[in-house]
Amino acid sequence: SNLDYAGYLKSWIRTVPNWPHDGVMFRDITPVLQNPKTFRLLIDIFVHRYMDQKIDMVAGLDARGFILGSVLAYELNVGFIPIRKKGKLPFTTVAEEYELEYGNATVEMHTDACKAGDRIVLIDDLIATGGTMMAGYKLLTRLGAEVIETAAIVDLPELGGSKLIKDKQIPLFTICDFE
Ligand code: PRP
Ligand code: ADE
Ligand code: MG
Repeated sequence: SNLDYAGYLKSWIRTVPNWPHDGVMFRDITPVLQNPKTFRLLIDIFVHRYMDQKIDMVAGLDARGFILGSVLAYELNVGFIPIRKKGKLPFTTVAEEYELEYGNATVEMHTDACKAGDRIVLIDDLIATGGTMMAGYKLLTRLGAEVIETAAIVDLPELGGSKLIKDKQIPLFTICDFE
């Protein structure tokens, strides 16, 4: 089950103290991606979770959510929506501003990236304050899409993001927690 894999994958996540600045314990997923066995296990958890959910599109959050989301979309045989940091998308966009653990930013999505009623999985690597995930959620729902679930590898529950998301009745799936 997912629970059996959670501890194993968690053991492959590297903690870098005081990066990008003092007081932040950075949870680095690159070792999971580096090892083909853990990368495949990770993606397979998401694939099995969504393969029978009639998903129309996978949306991924710039930049680490792209690594997971594009592979998941390919495996589910659906299209991929990049939700990008401000100023990167060339066509007409919708935008949402948000705050994160160490700053603030704006994300954008093309206005024709999805259509009303599309069943979407929104994926990122990690939930801290939840600002990034909520901004992506708002963009998709502004265009009328149905976000079937938000998903990430890591939850940092002490930063309150996962509670914020669940309190809004938005489905959220994460594989492991770091205190
Ligand atoms: C990190 C992480 C999540 C976000 C989580 O992204 O990849 O997207 O922060 O924080 P939040 O829940 O407080 O919003 P970051 O903006 O550092 O950039 P990157 O993905 O481009 O590396
Ligand atoms: N994004 C926001 N907080 C983070 C953390 N502690 N580790 C990795 N990515 C993050
Ligand atoms: Mg990110």
